[in-house]
Amino acid sequence: MNLLFIIDSPEELKAYKDTTVVMMRAAQKRGHTVHVCEQAGLSWTSQRVRASATRIALTDNDEDWYRRDGAAARELKDFGAVLMRKDPPFDMEYVASTWLLEEAERRGARVFNSPRALRDHNEKFAIAEFAHLSVPSLVTRDMEALQAFVDEHRDTVLKPLLGMGGAGIFRVKSDDPNRNVIVETLAEHGARSIMAQRFIPEIAQGDKRVIVIEGKPLPHVLARIPKKGETRGNLAVGAKGVAQPLSARDREIAEAMGPALAARGLLFVGLDVIGEWLTEVNVTSPTCFREIQDQTGFDCGSVFIEALEARIAAPRRG
Ligand SMILES: Nc1ncnc2c1ncn2[C@@H]1O[C@H](COP(=O)(O)OP(=O)(O)O)[C@@H](O)[C@H]1O
Ligand SMILES: [Mg+2]
Repeated sequence: MNLLFIIDSPEELKAYKDTTVVMMRAAQKRGHTVHVCEQAGLSWTSQRVRASATRIALTDNDEDWYRRDGAAARELKDFGAVLMRKDPPFDMEYVASTWLLEEAERRGARVFNSPRALRDHNEKFAIAEFAHLSVPSLVTRDMEALQAFVDEHRDTVLKPLLGMGGAGIFRVKSDDPNRNVIVETLAEHGARSIMAQRFIPEIAQGDKRVIVIEGKPLPHVLARIPKKGETRGNLAVGAKGVAQPLSARDREIAEAMGPALAARGLLFVGLDVIGEWLTEVNVTSPTCFREIQDQTGFDCGSVFIEALEARIAAPRRG
C-alpha cells in the first residue's frame, strides 16, 4: 500500500529515537511505500482533500535516514492509509487539520488515529471516562475549588490541559509558600481550566508508558524514571527510559480501556500509568517504540503496521 504519514518537518525528526521513523521503516520492510507530508501541505478544494506529498525511501542509518523519491499532489483517498503523526501542540491549526482529515474520510480516505477522536479527546481529561482507574482529580478554572483540592489532598500535581512533555506541570503541597501563585498562573486567574490530581509517590519508580494497539497492550512498557531532583517522568525533561514487562495491573488498565478506544478509531494509544494508576491517555503522537525495541528486541513497528493492515482489510466501522 501507499501510506501517507503527516509529520513535522523531516529535517527535525530525530531518527535515533523517533517512533514515526520506526513505523515508516517497519512499513517499508513489509512492502509498503512511504510518503510524507507536512501539515502545511494539506488542502481542500473542489470536494477534494489533497496532500503535497513526497515519496521517501527509508535507510537504516539514523544520521541520514531517508531519500526523497519524488513529489506529487495527491488525494488522500488514493492512499491505502493516512497516518496523522504531527506532534502537538494541539492548537487551532491542529484542529483545522482534523477538519480536513475528517472530510478526507468522508471521501473515502482511511485515517488513523481517527481525526474526530483526535479532536474530541483531550489527553489529560480523557481519564474522566475511566476515572475508576485513576486517582482523585479535579478539572476546573475555579481557583477556590483548586485550592480546596490542594488542602484536601495535601500533595498534588497541577497540570495544564493542553501541555505535553512535562511542560507546565507543578507538584504542589498544601504548605507550599508559592501555591497561590502557582494556581493563579496556571489557571490564569480563573480564565483557564486546569487539572489538579493527587500526587502518586510511585512516580519515583517511573511513569510507565503502556502502548495499546488496536485495543491490546504490548508486552513491554517503558518506565520513564525521573532524573535526580525532578518530579517529571518525561523523556523530554531527562527521564531515563527502562523497558519492563507489562504488569498484571498495567494489563488490567489497558484491557479495560482498549475496546472503547479502538472502537472510536484510536488505533494507537500511549497510556501513562504511575504505580497502579492511569494518569494520561496520549493519542496525538505517542512515542517510546524505539526505546522498547532497542532494549527488548520486540518489534513494535511491525505490530503496529500489521494492525493497520488488518484495519484496512476489514470493512469500515462507524
Ligand atoms: N498524579 C501524579 N502523581 C505524581 N506525578 C505526576 C502525576 N501526574 C503527573 N505527574 C508527573 O508529571 C509528569 C507529566 O505528567 P502527564 O500528566 O503525563 O503530562 P504530560 O506528559 O503530557 O506533560 C509525569 O511523568 C509525572 O512525573
Ligand atoms: Mg505524559
